[in-house]
Amino acid sequence: MTDTTDLAGQTNDLDAFWVPFTPNRAFKRAPRLIARAKDMHYFTPDGRAVLDGTAGLWCTNAGHNRDPIVAAIKRQAAELDYAPAFQFAHPKAFELASRIAALAPADLDRVFFCNSGSEAVDTALKIALAYHHVRGEGARNRLIGRERGYHGTGFGGISVGGIVNNRKFFGTLLAGVDHLPATYSREHQAFTRGEPEWGGHLADELERIVALHDASTIAAVIVEPMAGSTGVLPPPLGYLERLRAICDRHGILLIFDEVITGFGRLGHAFASERYGVTPDIITFAKGITSGSVPMGGVIARQRVYDAFMHGPEHVIELFHGYTYSAHPLACAAGLATLDLYRGEKLFERAKALEPLLADAAMALKNLPGVLDVRTIGLTAGIDLASRPGAVGARAGEAMDRAFHDEGLMVRITGDTLALAPPLIVSEAQIAEIFEKVARVIRATA
Ligand SMILES: Cc1ncc(COP(=O)(O)O)c(C=O)c1O
Repeated sequence: MTDTTDLAGQTNDLDAFWVPFTPNRAFKRAPRLIARAKDMHYFTPDGRAVLDGTAGLWCTNAGHNRDPIVAAIKRQAAELDYAPAFQFAHPKAFELASRIAALAPADLDRVFFCNSGSEAVDTALKIALAYHHVRGEGARNRLIGRERGYHGTGFGGISVGGIVNNRKFFGTLLAGVDHLPATYSREHQAFTRGEPEWGGHLADELERIVALHDASTIAAVIVEPMAGSTGVLPPPLGYLERLRAICDRHGILLIFDEVITGFGRLGHAFASERYGVTPDIITFAKGITSGSVPMGGVIARQRVYDAFMHGPEHVIELFHGYTYSAHPLACAAGLATLDLYRGEKLFERAKALEPLLADAAMALKNLPGVLDVRTIGLTAGIDLASRPGAVGARAGEAMDRAFHDEGLMVRITGDTLALAPPLIVSEAQIAEIFEKVARVIRATA
């Protein structure tokens, strides 16, 4: 038993909590504990400030513990704690859905709520399969993902996802899934700002997959417009457009997983808007409530929704939902968050700061063992040379040093550091983040 009386000011031990996506034994020997947050900073139990370089887990886009969001959650908790999500609804669910539909591109106008990105992905995949079924094309049951893709941890998400450790322990996964190749090549793309010129042609691999399985068996393609969790891979120029064209040619639904890119990360409400490519379904989570209350969802094109609206009116059209779909606290937090994004013009702010963040990140290029730096929106990925036989050890040490020695939160995947600060980050704080990152890169070389 590890007693943390001295850390948290109360008797507590670290044994019971199985910490997700974390090496538990190492963590419990030297925990990185966070007790409080405000705006751009976390605070440890002993009061030390830690600059948030990662918007939590890519989610606190409006910054932490913002007063209007906190007040909205408090008000909602006092007014309506819960209303059944099936067969009943509460007004804020409709209000938030309308606000999201207004932000989404083109006729992506119908919003289905759930509680996380993983649930959003499962929901999107199920809607895609059911869409073809209700239209009499039930043989379209294959789903196409992409190598290195991250779509959360549900069985649907890990099946279409392409990160081996998230898949290999968990059995046979969904049947009938195929994968596009990843869009990254260090040889052709190293140290690119924004969308790399090389790689658009990789979308044509979808034609090969269609030729192999036949379009009549394929329901949907799902990709992250910018692959975040695998280490920040911006889409090559023209890539998303080509995917869209091939999907159109073969009647395949295109799903953009915008769990990270939604709500400002790339300087727009959605990446679809940045790229001028309209998918049939968008998934979202994280930024919708700025991380304050769990919420996710799916936005579908009008025609996708309409396909279900047939048959007797007393019959449920889509047999899917969650007890906490459109939870009142999440809806209240979502509305207050969207107000903040609009009132403080945070998406525009992200766009304006993009070149500054890219400059600061690219300045790391010549530090020891920096193999690549990629930037897009308010996001940067930095690949570090791995230690022989110990992939991930260097980035792990960098994250630890950043937290304990520099007062900075960074994210890691393998030996890649990822930075994605809240959109309220100041110019001085961007400089501070990358000065601290430079020091940890040197210290771990
Ligand atoms: C693109 C994408 N999809 C889905 C998810 C899963 O979200 P959650 O952890 O809320 O289930 C994530 C999480 O990082 C993500 O980046």
